[in-house]
Amino acid sequence: MGPTPAFLVLLGAMWTCLLSAAPQAFPAPSISLIPSGSIIPGTNMIIRCWADLSGMRFLLYKVGVLDALRHVEPAGNKGEFPITNARQEDSGNYTCRYQTLDEPPKWSYHSNPVELVVKGEILCSLESRHPSSQPHSPSGTGIGP
Ligand SMILES: *[C@@H]1O[C@H](CO)[C@@H](O)[C@H](O)[C@H]1NC(C)=O
Repeated sequence: MGPTPAFLVLLGAMWTCLLSAAPQAFPAPSISLIPSGSIIPGTNMIIRCWADLSGMRFLLYKVGVLDALRHVEPAGNKGEFPITNARQEDSGNYTCRYQTLDEPPKWSYHSNPVELVVKGEILCSLESRHPSSQPHSPSGTGIGP
């Protein structure tokens, strides 16, 4: 059992496209969340990105955000991005990629996305805002003589 013909055609098309469009990029790194699964707000966790190559700069991206959020230059082949005190705003899909340290850098493809879910506390949605019910006090004061 091998790849399906459709997959091979797709692969072929992608390859042709690559050859004609851009210099070849490094293979995509892998990405995972530690711990995996969803977490509650305040948790510390790590987004780990790793490649087959060492001595690279790893960059972390959030889907929907153009620029890299952070980067690290580990000695080995594993970049780690700690998230301390995770907040709900940290929820999202993350990818990473790596680049060489020389100029101009050579890039890898983006990893597959991993989804980070920071589960909100179930708060009673107390209406803290009152409909502005301040009575308009008749402004009868102080018209001096
Ligand atoms: C992550 O991506 C999946 C698939 O596109 C989407 O359904 C999900 O809502 C995304 N998660 C967040 C937190 O944006």
